[in-house]
Amino acid sequence: MEIVEWSDAYSVGNVLMDAHHRVFFQMVKEFSEAPDQDMRATMQQQIAFLAEYVIMHLAAEESLMREAGYPDIDKHKALHDAFAHKVHAARDAFPTDQGSVSAEVILQTMQDWFLNHIRDEDRKYAPYLRHRP
Ligand SMILES: [Fe+2]
Repeated sequence: MEIVEWSDAYSVGNVLMDAHHRVFFQMVKEFSEAPDQDMRATMQQQIAFLAEYVIMHLAAEESLMREAGYPDIDKHKALHDAFAHKVHAARDAFPTDQGSVSAEVILQTMQDWFLNHIRDEDRKYAPYLRHRP
């Protein structure tokens, strides 16, 4: 799959959010390169872990936006909620048997969503959160 490495070009001007985003891409990379990718049970655990991480991150981002008085938080949260729903559905649909949707497809889909979301949406809150811890 095509791996995205976080770079300064994706910075949203907030140290914590940048760190979350960086770790997310790093985990996708590690999971997609895992030598035991054919072990469905392992991949299932990794996808479940990533799903938890994503939900934690989206909630943290929403509280920061709220504290910063970001005016478009409702619209932004709606995008998060739709993604969270998809992530949970993918996690629940990923079975331990062979032949169904591959872990790679799920990882790629999550990675692509994140990249587009950071570039198109997260960037909009940057001026409100800049220089906050
Ligand atoms: Fe976001």
